[in-house]
Amino acid sequence: MTSTFTSHAGGGPGAGAAPPAVSATEVSKVYGSGDAAVHALRGVTVGFASGAFTAIMGPSGSGKSTLMHCLAGLDTVGGGRVTLGDVEITGMSDRRLTLLRRDRVGFVFQAFNLLPTLTAEQNILLPLQLAGRSPDRAWFDRVVEVVGLRDRLGHRPSELSGGQQQRVACARALVARPEVIFADEPTGNLDSASGAEVLGFLRTSVREMGQTIVMVTHDPAAASYADRVVFLRDGTIVTELYRPTPDTVLDRLKSLGG
Ligand SMILES: Nc1ncnc2c1ncn2[C@@H]1O[C@H](COP(=O)(O)OP(=O)(O)OP(=O)(O)O)[C@@H](O)[C@H]1O
Ligand SMILES: [Mg+2]
Repeated sequence: MTSTFTSHAGGGPGAGAAPPAVSATEVSKVYGSGDAAVHALRGVTVGFASGAFTAIMGPSGSGKSTLMHCLAGLDTVGGGRVTLGDVEITGMSDRRLTLLRRDRVGFVFQAFNLLPTLTAEQNILLPLQLAGRSPDRAWFDRVVEVVGLRDRLGHRPSELSGGQQQRVACARALVARPEVIFADEPTGNLDSASGAEVLGFLRTSVREMGQTIVMVTHDPAAASYADRVVFLRDGTIVTELYRPTPDTVLDRLKSLGG
């Protein structure tokens, strides 16, 4: 599998004709009603390229997690459409969405969500086991190599550092070869060295395995590992940046007043 990242290098937005791995079209989402209504998303249209690492940034409350949950089929939209690959997921039944998430999407959250009684290897293989799929051993070995956890596979989460635990969570998401991995503040609970470890791994999985990743983060340094950053404010996408650096991300955030 090759990454489409290189197709961005010269072109920026619009380069490469491959359809996005996941996209939102005019997506809106309102929580509550009447005076208490919160317009979390106000007509968001955005696509996330296959084989690319995209960060979503914006001030607290701007709708980042809501957008990610709608893209991942964890939450329903109020209006508009979400498409995963060639499938429109808007309006799908809960049952179909559950299967779709299980088979085609991976998640990494701020809390590592590892099962404490299982070893690292058992945690990594759990989603496949639950889905009744047998692991592809060669792929498992490759993932373990990329995350650098070969000598930690027999350890339980309590015997691992925070960074190692989050890398186990990343490997768990990756081993099922999902079409997209969604990560919400994956380095939010980590010190900067462990965070860099996890982000480096995520970037490697994009470059070397062609993984598609959409990551929400507050941290300009974290966002600079991505190929592209989209910025939300008040429930709409206001700007985007290709080939971000911590400084260009920070400048853009300042101009948003976030
Ligand atoms: N379940 C809910 N019920 C009511 N309002 C909600 C709910 N979830 C989110 N909101 C509101 O929707 C808006 C967007 O929230 P969201 O969690 O998407 O923001 P965010 O950009 O992820 O913020 P943060 O950076 O703080 O995580 C906020 O105003 C929030 O208070
Ligand atoms: Mg959030």
